[in-house]
Amino acid sequence: MCLIVTVNGSPKDGGRTGAILRETAEAVRRRVDGARIEEVSLALDWKEIFSGLWRPQISERAEEVVCRAEQADLLIIGSPIYRASYTGVLKHYFDLVDRDVMSGKKAILAATGGSQMHWLALEHQFRPLMGFFNIQTVPTALYGVEGDFDGVEIRSETLRALIDRAAFEAAELLNASAASEEAVEAAQ
Ligand SMILES: Cc1cc2nc3c(=O)[nH]c(=O)nc-3n(C[C@H](O)[C@H](O)[C@H](O)COP(=O)(O)O)c2cc1C
Repeated sequence: MCLIVTVNGSPKDGGRTGAILRETAEAVRRRVDGARIEEVSLALDWKEIFSGLWRPQISERAEEVVCRAEQADLLIIGSPIYRASYTGVLKHYFDLVDRDVMSGKKAILAATGGSQMHWLALEHQFRPLMGFFNIQTVPTALYGVEGDFDGVEIRSETLRALIDRAAFEAAELLNASAASEEAVEAAQ
C-alpha cells in the first residue's frame, strides 16, 4: 500500500497552498493502485510542533504529526512563500524529522506566492532541503499566484497541467519502486 502525505506549511489551513496539495494528492492517487492520502496541516498543529525545539522535547501529538512524514512513500510538500522562502513552521517541522528514515522517499514540491518573482525559491530553497534528506523530488515543481485561483479554487489551466505532470512523474517513480520490490520478493 502506498502512503501519500501532504505537508502544508501555511498558517491558513484552507488557503491556496492547501488547494494545490489536495488536487495534486488526488491526481497521484488516481494513478497509483491502492494509494491512500494523509494530511499534515501546520496551521492546525503549529502549537504542537513548537512544543519543543528538538525531537525529545515535543508533545505526543507532535510526535504523531512528525511520524506521518516519516511513514510516507510520497510527500507532497507545500508552503506559501514568506519573506522569499518557505515558512518558519515548515522548516521547524523538518528540523524535527529523522533524517535516517527519509532516504529514498519521493516528493512533489509546491508553493504559492503573492508574486511570480519568488517561484525560484522552489529550486533554491525547497529542493536543497529535500537533498539534505536524500529525498527524490520530481522535476516538475508547482507554483501558483493569486491570479491562478478563484478564491481557493484553482482556475489556471497552466497550473492544472503542471499538477497533472508532477502527478504523472511521481506515479512513475512509485510504480517503478513497487515493481522492483515485487521482483525482489519473487526472487526470494
Ligand atoms: C508574512 C507574509 C510574507 C509574505 N512574503 C511573500 C514573499 O516574500 N513573496 C511572495 O511572493 N509572497 C509573499 N507573501 C504572500 C503569500 O505567499 C501568498 O499570499 C500565499 O499564496 C498565501 O498562501 P496560503 O493561502 O496557502 O496561506 C507573504 C504573505 C505573508 C502573510
